[in-house]
Amino acid sequence: MLNFADPSEAGRPWRLAHICLLVIGLLAVILLSVDGLPLDVRDGLRYTIWLVAVLFFVEYLIRLWGAPEEARYREFPPMIARLRWAISLPGLVALLATVPVFMRLAGYRIVDSDTASIFCVLWVMKLGLHAPALGTLARVVSNERSPIAGVLALFFIVLVMAATVAHLLERERQPEAFGSLPNALWWAVVTLTTTGYGDVVPLTAGGRLVGSVLMISGISVLAIMTGVLATGFAQEERRREYLKVWELVARVPIFAALGVVTLSEIVGKLRTRYYPSRVVIMRRGDPGDSMFFISSGECEVRLPTGGTVKLGEGAFFGEMSLLERQPRSATVATSRPTTLLVLYASDFYEIASRIPALAQAVEVEAKRRREENIERTKDEPRR
Ligand code: CMP
Repeated sequence: MLNFADPSEAGRPWRLAHICLLVIGLLAVILLSVDGLPLDVRDGLRYTIWLVAVLFFVEYLIRLWGAPEEARYREFPPMIARLRWAISLPGLVALLATVPVFMRLAGYRIVDSDTASIFCVLWVMKLGLHAPALGTLARVVSNERSPIAGVLALFFIVLVMAATVAHLLERERQPEAFGSLPNALWWAVVTLTTTGYGDVVPLTAGGRLVGSVLMISGISVLAIMTGVLATGFAQEERRREYLKVWELVARVPIFAALGVVTLSEIVGKLRTRYYPSRVVIMRRGDPGDSMFFISSGECEVRLPTGGTVKLGEGAFFGEMSLLERQPRSATVATSRPTTLLVLYASDFYEIASRIPALAQAVEVEAKRRREENIERTKDEPRR
């Protein structure tokens, strides 16, 4: 289906076309607000804006019609699916983007800079739907709502206290700026957020002291908020990586026999890496610091004897240097686009000591490979 919000690879051309259209529309709206443009340029910009709005209207109709095909609405009858999409956030944002068309149909005169600025707001919301990071931000804010609420409460307490004290200290010297609490609050917000317009400045010694404390508190509050959000983002990223690895691990047979609890411990230690074709993952003689499991794709082991061995989905490599504590015995490169799961040496040793069955399976394969390499070395001079 024609879905501009389709996050898959197939939806990519539509997404790009949609983003280009939005950027063209927004640029036209922004330019139209510039005074003194020649008349024909203004007309050109107006037509561009209408054209973009009409295309958004067509997009809205297509998406409304195709809503039953979207995965999340498939279980509903077509009309209910359409209704659900129409009242969803993407549906409402897509509808708002078509407002210029309705204005035109209602006989409203073509955009001037004021009306155009409204389109700017409506269309920029549409652009927001293309930023998956905004979804992550919403999840982070929701997950961290309790510390965020704590920081905001702290912000509010400091703000009101500082504004009240400054109001009491400064109101006689500066009745305009500090005569009322809302005015004092304005100064406190500007100071606490470290914006500092400088339009209002305390003049008494006490007021300046309050201002100093407020500025330092502002930096501390912002630092705490940054820390809370950064931690939230890191946790969200780890959760996403965990789910991704969990899916990929299922394709590696060596993990198949493990119980859910053991597997969940290993999954927490694995990291995913995507490589295009013909990328060297490790070179012979490098120090061994990790081993790899092939979740999809194919790798080629270039043996010192000159031969190569192909390793496909589910195989692993890089274990020999970890077990023998020796440099890498061969060069390994991808022969197709490949997804690897990486297990770092420290985690490998920890897992090997706790899950002997897994360690044994890896050792058996390493032994077989070592013997195979010795055989190949013996064969080499005879060739
Ligand atoms: P390591 O020595 O750490 O780095 C190179 C890797 O290539 C090695 O571990 C093995 O995982 C892999 N390897 C070496 N020889 C063979 C072989 N004969 N067959 C398959 N893989 C091999």
